[in-house]
Amino acid sequence: MSKQTLILAIETSCDETSVSVVENGKHILSNSVLSQIESHKRFGGVVPEVASRHHVENMTIMIDNALQTAEKTMSDIDAIAVTQGPGLIGALLVGVNAAKALAFAHQKPLIPVHHIAGHVYANQLEQDLKFPLIALIVSGGHTELVYMKDHLNFEVIGETRDDAVGEAYDKVARTIGLSYPGGPIIDQLAAEGEDLYAFPRVWLEPDSYDFSFSGLKSAVINKLHNLNQKGEEIDPKNVATSFQNSVVEVLVKKAMRACESYGVKQLIVAGGVASNKGLRKALEVETQKRHIELSIPQPKLCTDNAAMIGAAGYYIYQKGIFGDMTLNGKSSMDLEMYSV
Ligand code: KG4
Ligand code: ZN
Repeated sequence: MSKQTLILAIETSCDETSVSVVENGKHILSNSVLSQIESHKRFGGVVPEVASRHHVENMTIMIDNALQTAEKTMSDIDAIAVTQGPGLIGALLVGVNAAKALAFAHQKPLIPVHHIAGHVYANQLEQDLKFPLIALIVSGGHTELVYMKDHLNFEVIGETRDDAVGEAYDKVARTIGLSYPGGPIIDQLAAEGEDLYAFPRVWLEPDSYDFSFSGLKSAVINKLHNLNQKGEEIDPKNVATSFQNSVVEVLVKKAMRACESYGVKQLIVAGGVASNKGLRKALEVETQKRHIELSIPQPKLCTDNAAMIGAAGYYIYQKGIFGDMTLNGKSSMDLEMYSV
């Protein structure tokens, strides 16, 4: 019988303290996630120093919780995976130092994981990745189209030149007076409104897979100011619908063009915005038309969690990439680091 590989994974790149035990990069034995959203809400966004402090307070509790839920002890664990970056440096350091302490004390290998590789591998927790594939990464900090020929072989073919899509959602939400994080609220409102405003679709050069959302964000803000000055009533639902339609159209068209020109079997979607209902629906329709398999994780695996780090960590472990006691958090990191 082949041996099971158990990875204990730690994620602290932003405002979720999460620890998970994952078997063979596929089966979640536990995935403990502690969100700090309530602490950051009153500031309208994540405050890095507050995030680091919460990670420190909760780290050991979350490690114990994940092991207990998985009904495992440290002696059952084969390796420790941790998000090395990108993310908030103070927050990352808490996870990296906890992982190093565990690896040192229990003499286990240490696996450095790129946060976005984690988001991509959240899909592997639900269905096998089928290569070649395109990954559409849509989170609060990233918007990227990535081509993958094989495991861990990431080729970034397009990325945002300014705001990430989640960031645009959160900024527009703040402008229409919604609380943080605004993405899920706009998504809900968008389903109830009418597309009354012709917000721009930013395509950039015809052959570009890059994105730009700052113009759209400014267009929404300008429109609201104009309507305000004219004394016209603004229904946030209609603003949300028009904004979301613009975002979804650009994301879906660029993703479809990439899938066609790279001749892929599967489109996988990753990151917090992957739980957007409008985006999910449009991608279902368009991938079906083209006979491309679509994989989008359930919402709780789309947002930051350690199980996705354990899934990616398994393949990094198989590849023999390890960190040592000099491992440090990195606020920015190249996703193509694992490609050979
Ligand atoms: O991946 P994630 O949890 O954290 C980062 O690594 O950035 O993504 C968080 C982002 C936030 O900007 C949030 O507003 C957005 O994902 N988000 C959504 C939805 N759910 C979360 N945006 C649009 N529609 C949603 N349903
Ligand atoms: Zn993330």
